Amino acid sequence: MTTDPLVLKQAVAQAAIDYIEPWLTPDAVIGVGTGSTADLFIDALCVKRQLFRAAVASSERTADRLRQGGVTVLNLNDVVSMPVYVDGADEINPALEMIKGGGGALTREKIVASVSERFLCIVDTSKQVEWLGQFPLPIEVLPMAVASVMRRALALGGQPILRTGFVTDNGNPIIDVAGLKILDAAGLEAELDHLPGVVTNGIFALRRADVALVAGPRGIETLLSH
Ligand code: A5P
Repeated sequence: MTTDPLVLKQAVAQAAIDYIEPWLTPDAVIGVGTGSTADLFIDALCVKRQLFRAAVASSERTADRLRQGGVTVLNLNDVVSMPVYVDGADEINPALEMIKGGGGALTREKIVASVSERFLCIVDTSKQVEWLGQFPLPIEVLPMAVASVMRRALALGGQPILRTGFVTDNGNPIIDVAGLKILDAAGLEAELDHLPGVVTNGIFALRRADVALVAGPRGIETLLSH
């Protein structure tokens, strides 16, 4: 099998459709993530649009792509539960804890995931790490908290950089923090979320993935959280 990243992403996107097929029922609302892998999942999901009711999107970009594919997009406030949330990740460790937000959609991703019964993460092997932090950790902050959160990130041993020319769908800036070796992902997630002005940080450990489908040269591997 190939190592071409696009082919691996297409393979894992299709595998995700096969995995969630039991939950594609006439009443079902599916939670949908954001990113290049999620885009390919959306394309495959749109082919199955007759099988389920609607989707909730984790970004404006995802909502547009779903609508273009003929899928009804609901406001999360009108949805009580979803059987599954499907999304990519920037990094995933063996405990299925992740860093997300490279595309800037971390806040809505975390909210939609929190309302879903299962989190299905779809990645290729390039995203697998022993510990989180080699990918800079995105933190969405209120504009007036940029400097104070950057100082705090420095004190934690990171190298914070303000993402230039970018605001999230919520109108906020993102700070990317490089150089963190994150060994207690849930602890750091909680600590960062308690800093005044932090909207969301990109550690997904308190609500990690339940299942990861990982595409590699030897095919698709299914990993379950313990
Ligand atoms: C979007 O904000 C991110 O969380 C993405 O899910 C993550 O960056 C993975 O994106 P790719 O599939 O494009 O690598």
